[in-house]
Amino acid sequence: MHPQPTASSQPAPLHLRVNGTACQVAVAAQTALLHVLRNDLELNGPKYGCGLGECGACTVLIDGVAARSCVMPVAAAVGRQVTTLEGLGTPESPGPVQQAFIDCQAAQCGYCLNGMIMTVEALLRRHPHATEQEMRSELQHNLCRCGTHVEIMQAALRAGELHRGRTIEQARAGA
Ligand code: FES
Repeated sequence: MHPQPTASSQPAPLHLRVNGTACQVAVAAQTALLHVLRNDLELNGPKYGCGLGECGACTVLIDGVAARSCVMPVAAAVGRQVTTLEGLGTPESPGPVQQAFIDCQAAQCGYCLNGMIMTVEALLRRHPHATEQEMRSELQHNLCRCGTHVEIMQAALRAGELHRGRTIEQARAGA
């Protein structure tokens, strides 16, 4: 016979700050942040791919730095700023990196794009003038099985331009 859960067996609430909003969740401290974001907070931007920290589909920003939420215990996010894809913009007003990926139609199935966008966002925040080679290096561990790497790189480069408040056309014109 299994013991019945009691009120005292409920995990203590954890206080998070996600996309600028304070929230609390009553989950075990070792629960993967990805599952809390998706299942408890209904933020489905981050995706479950490998669950092993290897594909990048689950990428979020922790204090502005890209992190793989599938292998990060939710307790490790307490006291830090968590940003998901939803925190970068809205469908009506996408952020510059999101806009670049839309402009370049960089998705086939689209499953990897959360990780691509969040990784580019993190890179541009710390290095607004990242070169193509630096973009490639940063994205090399984000996996895309459809093979839209050409469009993804175009989007990453355009994201850099938009992030700096310039368009590719202006850049080509030498502005
Ligand atoms: Fe997290 Fe693959 S789902 S890295």
